[in-house]
Amino acid sequence: MCGIVGYIGKREAEPILLKGLERLEYRGYDSAGIALMQATPPSPRPEVTGRGKQGGARILVYKKKGRVADLEKLLKAKKLTANSFHLGMAHTRWATHGEPTDANAHPHLSNSGDIAIIHNGIIENYLSLKKILTEKGYKFKSATDTEVLVNLIEDVKKNAKVAINEAVRLALREVVGAYAIVVLSKDEPDTLVVAKKGSPVVIGIGKDEFFIASDATPLVEYTNKVTYLGDDEMAVIKNNKLTVKTIKNKIINPYIQKLEMKIEELEKGGFPHFMLKEIFEQPRSIKDSMRGRINGKTGMVKLGGIEKLQDKLFNAKRILILACGTSWHAGLEAKYFFEELARVPTVVEYASEFKYRNPVIYKDDLVIVISQSGETADTLNALHLAKEHGTTVFGICNVVGSSIPRATDAGVYTHAGPEIGVASTKAFTAQITVLLMMCFLLALKKKTMRKTEAQKIIAELENIPGKVEKMLLKNEAIRNIAKKFKNAKNFIYLGRGYGFPIALEGALKLKEIAYIHADGYPASEMKHGPIALVDENMPVVFIANKGASYEKVINNMMEVKARKGKIIAIITKGDAKAKKIADHVIEIPETPEPLMSLVASIPLQLLAYHIAELNGRDVDKPRNLAKSVTVE
Ligand code: G6P
Repeated sequence: MCGIVGYIGKREAEPILLKGLERLEYRGYDSAGIALMQATPPSPRPEVTGRGKQGGARILVYKKKGRVADLEKLLKAKKLTANSFHLGMAHTRWATHGEPTDANAHPHLSNSGDIAIIHNGIIENYLSLKKILTEKGYKFKSATDTEVLVNLIEDVKKNAKVAINEAVRLALREVVGAYAIVVLSKDEPDTLVVAKKGSPVVIGIGKDEFFIASDATPLVEYTNKVTYLGDDEMAVIKNNKLTVKTIKNKIINPYIQKLEMKIEELEKGGFPHFMLKEIFEQPRSIKDSMRGRINGKTGMVKLGGIEKLQDKLFNAKRILILACGTSWHAGLEAKYFFEELARVPTVVEYASEFKYRNPVIYKDDLVIVISQSGETADTLNALHLAKEHGTTVFGICNVVGSSIPRATDAGVYTHAGPEIGVASTKAFTAQITVLLMMCFLLALKKKTMRKTEAQKIIAELENIPGKVEKMLLKNEAIRNIAKKFKNAKNFIYLGRGYGFPIALEGALKLKEIAYIHADGYPASEMKHGPIALVDENMPVVFIANKGASYEKVINNMMEVKARKGKIIAIITKGDAKAKKIADHVIEIPETPEPLMSLVASIPLQLLAYHIAELNGRDVDKPRNLAKSVTVE
């Protein structure tokens, strides 16, 4: 959470930083702020927030509660002199310590006003550091952990009489917690310092210019040469030179890689929201997840990223899946097919719960962590715990080069392309696609599936993008259903077997973006509790496709109908029986059950989207949420 961006070079920093913030706003949108280095202030002096000696450089800081657009308005009103800032940094915040206010917004200045910082992460020992600094006379204007860190840097710099990069390095040795920081000091107006532990930082390398960001999206129009800082590493950029070293002061050679991302992927392309665009991208994103990896004609499954270690998968006595949120739902869906098709016991755990108990982990478990962003702190920590037990960990991630894929033993990228809407859609279907391919690979090796059977289901998987395309044609019909239910206060989503995780995911989408309470439940469990909620005002969404538990789901629908609940049912095309019972139906094409979620989740995404949009919700940036949760 929180987005950080920095620039040093010949161009005007401010527009680059603001555009970068817009790209990173999905990471948090409680407040936004910018710091600009004014190397040689004009006379008379402009308004400054950071004080500084007359004649020397100054750091101008502007920050505001609210969205990046509010910061942009503020800057417009300030009428900053054009082309006078070539070094700066900016921040968009998801509040952890301290409410979303102007004072708690980043950047934060040290007491002298000479040093500025932006930070993504949490300084866990900030209270004890704050106490020490308070005793030394430091004053704090905000309730943040970050303001403590910038004053600690100032204190170290003053006492040790060192350059800013050394002060940052020494200060960080006293810090417990997670951080991605950028630091500027007015005493060195040509220097930008970055450091990382736990939270992500990428450095874009241009010609005589450098870009810093929490992910690669702000860099893409300027350069395709990037390097990701590792944990306990820092970078100093000065005189067009990038130096990377560890916090222990060992110089390292940065690994520079090519960024594979297109600018069009970061724009709405005519859709009113990124979420709708991403829902509509699914025929393509599912295809991209499979590209070159399967072939229905030959029964080939090839997952290059795990090839060297695939014996670990083949010999696993148990599969342990760790994830959060929507990724957890993808994992739960996978449990059904891993057990049915590959006959391997599969346990799915919330990464956040897993880390803080004493879980049983066997060496011959195969752990799979699933994360769209590759940065979720809970998932990353659960991964580390699994590795401490000597277990092999595979990752399924979407963001290339992010922290989780770098920490796993092997993995498969989902290749869904950047997902910007906070509510996950195309990443979910891409995760399931990858998990299915992994399952087929395993089932073929273990011979729990015959080759002909595998060929058939692989060919069916290859047909899924076409089926998703057909589902998208129902967009208007689904919007009409949404109109009928947009004022409902509660929803229940029910499914059995493969339909249960789909019900959970459908309910989560509605909660996230429409702010309507929704409960996902196994349809069979309904009579043990949720049925008490059913009356004529309760919409109940059923996943009622023709599968192993079809008849039972039909019975559950009858039970809801008998209590006057309003039924919206996802049914298999042409199912007259279900049509008779339900108030509204959305038909899906006949699909083998293990693949069904790829088709059935599309109408649920659209239903949640339209209910939210009809209620005027901020679909892409729902309140209180962030796309990438880098705090525990
Ligand atoms: C946040 C997002 C969810 C996402 C979850 C896990 O809560 O709002 O959409 O499912 O994090 O994220 P990950 O990046 O690990 O898949």
